[in-house]
Amino acid sequence: MLTDAHHRTIDYIRLSVTDRCNLRCTYCMPEHMHFVNSKALLSDEEILFLLQTLAGAGISKVRITGGEPFLRPGLMQLLEKITRIPGIDEIAVTTNGVLTQPYIPALQELGIRHINLSLDTLRADRFLQITRRDKYAAVMDTLQSLLQQQMPVKINVVVMENVNTDELTDFAALTRDHALSVRFIEEMPFNGQGHLFSGINWHYQKILDTISAVYPLEKIADAPHSTSLNYHIPGHKGNIGVIPAYSRTFCGTCNRLRISATGSMKTCLYGNDVLNVKEIMRDPAQQPLLLSAIQSAIHQRFANGFEAEKHHAEKYMESMSVIGG
Ligand code: GTP
Ligand code: 5AD
Ligand code: SF4
Repeated sequence: MLTDAHHRTIDYIRLSVTDRCNLRCTYCMPEHMHFVNSKALLSDEEILFLLQTLAGAGISKVRITGGEPFLRPGLMQLLEKITRIPGIDEIAVTTNGVLTQPYIPALQELGIRHINLSLDTLRADRFLQITRRDKYAAVMDTLQSLLQQQMPVKINVVVMENVNTDELTDFAALTRDHALSVRFIEEMPFNGQGHLFSGINWHYQKILDTISAVYPLEKIADAPHSTSLNYHIPGHKGNIGVIPAYSRTFCGTCNRLRISATGSMKTCLYGNDVLNVKEIMRDPAQQPLLLSAIQSAIHQRFANGFEAEKHHAEKYMESMSVIGG
């Protein structure tokens, strides 16, 4: 069991498999983003060794993130191998949906059903404005296929002032006929552009108030460790949620560990990199110490309290594509 200084058990790993992306969402990265050389990424073998090690220590859920995971060559073969690791009972993927549609049947066959789709607008012209790429139709095809296959899709909508706040109720309306979850995310400072982030006006309560002015919202039970506060609109098939990612009201129940595509480990989204698992795995002398190095990093997590991290949040100008969300 991996436990931290606040006796929180870590059983969920978010693993980025590439820093590359085929979109350029303005809240995430600049147009000219520097991507690392593929040799700097964890190899398939290293990822499998890492996950086997972590599964042996109680990690049971893996979320594959990026960048855009489907840009990694051989992703499906890697996923297939991950499904065979004893102890990993849930594999989930966060994707932007541009390349995903053709892989949906194979994902289903592997038993990978938890797909989170990033989609911030339901208008093609606005999609181009937000992502700087004209890929709306491909993403909508992916969404349609996920729904046809009855996969429990969650749509992630980053709420951006003066960009998409006029679409909150359109997104909520999607839940009427479709059994999906739409989750509105507070924007975070990880824009990769170094411009100062001065906080948000669209706090999760304002998002909820905007929607409840049109639709009645009933609170529903949240899964343990859920990042979202979840609601149901009477008569609708799906649900809506808000993720207080900036106001971070869920640190107390956080069960996750993050590993970037190059092996940097974070014990908090807003925290520093605490160690690099690739460097450990590539050094034969250190490799046997991988688990104990991870354990001791987790044990020090928030040893000085959560607040210490909060005050530093604004200085982080990393791109979310590197952290993996
Ligand atoms: P599931 O609960 O497995 O569906 O995953 P999730 O909600 O953690 O995953 P997803 O990749 O869809 O992330 C949704 C949003 O929540 C992203 O913007 C994440 O960065 C944000 N988020 C995820 N984990 C944390 C966290 O530990 N802290 C904060 N502040 N935000 C998080
Ligand atoms: N603020 C909030 N969410 C973000 N994401 C990427 N960058 C940011 C940001 N600056 C979201 C993506 C994806 C999830 C993993 O993180 O839209 O859905
Ligand atoms: Fe790509 Fe996701 Fe970043 Fe958009 S938010 S540029 S889809 S990594």
